[in-house]
Amino acid sequence: MASGKCVALVTGGGSGIGRATAVRFAELGYHCAVADIDEASARETVGMLKTPGLAVQVDVSNTASVQAMVDTTVKQFGRIDCAFNNAGIEGAREKIVDYPEDMFDRVMNVNLKGMWLCVKYEVAQMLKQERVISDPAKWAGKPDLCRFQGQRGSIVNSSSIAGLDSMPEFTPYCASKWGIIGLTKTVAQEYAKDGIRVNAVCPGTTDTPMRGRFEAQWPDWQAKTDASYPVGRVAAPEEVAEAVVWLCSDACPFTTGEYLNIAGGR
Ligand SMILES: NC(=O)c1ccc[n+]([C@@H]2O[C@H](COP(=O)([O-])OP(=O)(O)OC[C@H]3O[C@@H](n4cnc5c(N)ncnc54)[C@H](O)[C@@H]3O)[C@@H](O)[C@H]2O)c1
Repeated sequence: MASGKCVALVTGGGSGIGRATAVRFAELGYHCAVADIDEASARETVGMLKTPGLAVQVDVSNTASVQAMVDTTVKQFGRIDCAFNNAGIEGAREKIVDYPEDMFDRVMNVNLKGMWLCVKYEVAQMLKQERVISDPAKWAGKPDLCRFQGQRGSIVNSSSIAGLDSMPEFTPYCASKWGIIGLTKTVAQEYAKDGIRVNAVCPGTTDTPMRGRFEAQWPDWQAKTDASYPVGRVAAPEEVAEAVVWLCSDACPFTTGEYLNIAGGR
């Protein structure tokens, strides 16, 4: 494998963007742990992989469950080179006055606390790992920059265009996705010298089951959505996956604390 990395962990890997990313990681030769609250869907994704995979049941909002996910992955594959923290839920569609508080808590617990927990335990694992220089010959003679000292791991967090702009009637979803940007940039700075990169992706509307659920809550949404993107359509999950594996890879060793807008020009 060109990247020199070999193990990827994907949360929310049983569906949509997570599934497409696990499939892409495997095409590139990574061994992939596919984690999801819906274990059957994770197993289904593992069945699609070209490399040996592992299905893990996880609730990302639960500390013990996240710890077990990391431990199980390391037990099976020895290390975690790349993690895509992608599990997320959209919540209900209501203006704030009518928004149910328990749904606010659920969305924040999965999307933001869950992200915090995953990053916390993934970084703790990566700090235990040796640095990997994926292509030593390429970097020979340039030992002065941090990128040539090797990487312990690379993390990509799933935010959204709703993490960069407003999303009326989805306050907790929007707030959680903004929070992920702050979390990402902060952790990236905390561990930049340790060879751990942390970035975020901000997809626009992507054709997944979540998109279908958004539309079910918002009947006039579909007609407006395609037109709202300069390219004239929403994304395929594979298009987001491609950006995630690039950010995870050693192709961009100096990129950390960044968020990548994947929104068809919007
Ligand atoms: N689809 C879009 O338009 C879009 C746009 C921008 C960002 N996103 C983000 O991308 C990510 C993936 O979205 P998707 O569209 O593929 O959605 P999806 O609903 O198809 O997949 C989400 C997966 O997360 C899993 N999940 C939910 N709660 C979980 C929990 N507590 N623990 C573990 N797994 C859990 C689900 O079982 C599901 O398999 C989400 O974070 C979402 O907010 C989606």
